[in-house]
Amino acid sequence: TDGGTAAAKRRAGERAATAVEDDFVVGLGTGSTAAYAIDAIGAAVADGLDVRGIPTSFQSRQRALEAGIALTSLDAVDRVDLAIDGADQVVDDPGADAHGALIKGGGGAHAREKLVDATAERFVVVVDPSKLTARFDRSVPVEVLPDAYTVVADRVRDLEGEPTLRSAKHKDGPVVTDNGNLVLDCEFDPIDDPGHLAATLSGIPGVVEHGLFVDLADTIYVGLEDGVDVREY
Ligand code: A5P
Repeated sequence: TDGGTAAAKRRAGERAATAVEDDFVVGLGTGSTAAYAIDAIGAAVADGLDVRGIPTSFQSRQRALEAGIALTSLDAVDRVDLAIDGADQVVDDPGADAHGALIKGGGGAHAREKLVDATAERFVVVVDPSKLTARFDRSVPVEVLPDAYTVVADRVRDLEGEPTLRSAKHKDGPVVTDNGNLVLDCEFDPIDDPGHLAATLSGIPGVVEHGLFVDLADTIYVGLEDGVDVREY
């Protein structure tokens, strides 16, 4: 991450935080860009804003606690007003069916992210311009039950995907998600129809959740050198 990218992420995150209103229940996304939004919400709370946050991961929970945001959970609320979350890739092509579709899960948090983001009345995505693409060209993270990883990997190969079990950087063995599951990073070349692939992956037994977020984002804030570009979907 160079300095320019960090500044762009910060701009996007801080702008999204201004959409938070008094009494809101807010979904708190995961990753470095969403963290800027969490910090900005924390600063607003210190200035008197009354909100409750629903974290999407251990990381965002920790960040929210440090920022002084009161926390709640999905089973304790009757609505989530807004979710703010990052993305690993965003299709940015007004002519494409998949315009506004996302790949998430680079940090392995996509299962709870999708649950919270999809539940929210409004889902705002925060990215820097490096995330924008005309067409997805990175792997799709698929969270699987530990018992299921070989079976799901075979099914992904049947779909002409190439699955790789995500391995931990500071431990011998696989990444274990916040939910106790494993992640298969699945390369599909190309992804012609993200909506169709999303539905197909969701139908494989043993798949807990995958990182294709199709038709979920309402607004995307793209942080730029000198401002924020807002796209509504
Ligand atoms: C977490 O699993 C992901 O879905 C993140 O939202 C995504 O990786 C974005 O992270 P950055 O803002 O750090 O790029």
